[in-house]
Amino acid sequence: MELEQARKLWQPQPGWLNTASYGLPPEPAWAAVQEALADWRTGRTSWEGWDDATRRSRAAFAGLVGVAPTDVTVGSTVSALFAPVAAALPAGATVVVPEVEFTSNLFPWLAQAERGVRVRTVPLDGLVDAIDADTDLVAFSLVQSADGAVADYHRIVAAARAHGALVAVDATQACGWLPFDAGLADVVAVGAYKWLMGPRGSALAYLAPALRERLRPDGAGWYAAEDPFSSYYGPPLRLAADARRFDQSPAWFSWIGTAPALELLAEIGVPAVREHDVRLANRFLAGLGRPPGDSAIVAVEVPGAQEKLERAGIRAAVRAGRVRASFHLYTTDADVDLALDALTG
Ligand SMILES: Cc1ncc(COP(=O)(O)O)c(C=O)c1O
Repeated sequence: MELEQARKLWQPQPGWLNTASYGLPPEPAWAAVQEALADWRTGRTSWEGWDDATRRSRAAFAGLVGVAPTDVTVGSTVSALFAPVAAALPAGATVVVPEVEFTSNLFPWLAQAERGVRVRTVPLDGLVDAIDADTDLVAFSLVQSADGAVADYHRIVAAARAHGALVAVDATQACGWLPFDAGLADVVAVGAYKWLMGPRGSALAYLAPALRERLRPDGAGWYAAEDPFSSYYGPPLRLAADARRFDQSPAWFSWIGTAPALELLAEIGVPAVREHDVRLANRFLAGLGRPPGDSAIVAVEVPGAQEKLERAGIRAAVRAGRVRASFHLYTTDADVDLALDALTG
């Protein structure tokens, strides 16, 4: 589907510039959730049908990031998807992380401190140089939540490989607008409620086959079984051979909203989304007299921003005097201009 055609599937209230907090559902996602909620309310269907949305989401996500569906696991949060990787780090391991990293890709490593796991935080632009022979894992966001900075994925991976370090990527603020190849890393986790435009409660991760061999499925339950639908009761342990052995049982309604949104993104194509999103971000930057960037998320210092935006009904994030604005499929030139009028008027 052409991007311009697809944009008719949203009806946002003008002034939503905060997809970095949560994304808005396209019409097919919203409709699917309403239908499932109505079924739930009256008990008119069994639950098995709801589960198909998890399968569809896994397949669509795998396609978006260029990996096999059998290498994708599903859960509810980014931090819990990283947890088995953190638990598998050898005692005394060193993890290198950018210093303003969102904590769901920091706390899982810090929580291993009692086993002697050490976390070094360094400036994002010094990450490549900080990777050395002592580094066991480098963990970073492909796009930073705080300011939209895009990490130099290929150089970071090359440095990690040169030193035998694992690579853990949080692509929550990237996946859906930035094309990338997840298969270069060892683990790539993504929360689906931002740029993938699902409800809160669905998250996916690529787990490289070689990494999986080192991980213990500490969270395994019936849904991680080779055949979940015949594994409700009793031993033995009979987990899936592929990445599904790390699955968490699905929050049904979250996945029901996630599948159509992911499939729509796949139809539109991420390169077209990037072009649209970055063009709007750069329109915003230009209006504030700033040079263009390469991200769908920008952070700029504007005195009195909070009040100015609130008065104009613009919803963006303001942190420590900096406006963080983010631009996605449903954002329009008019949204950008509304924000510029509010900030510069
Ligand atoms: C970069 C990034 N990762 C992860 C999350 C959410 O993490 P979790 O799913 O662990 O709540 C956010 C939410 O703001 C985020 O910005």
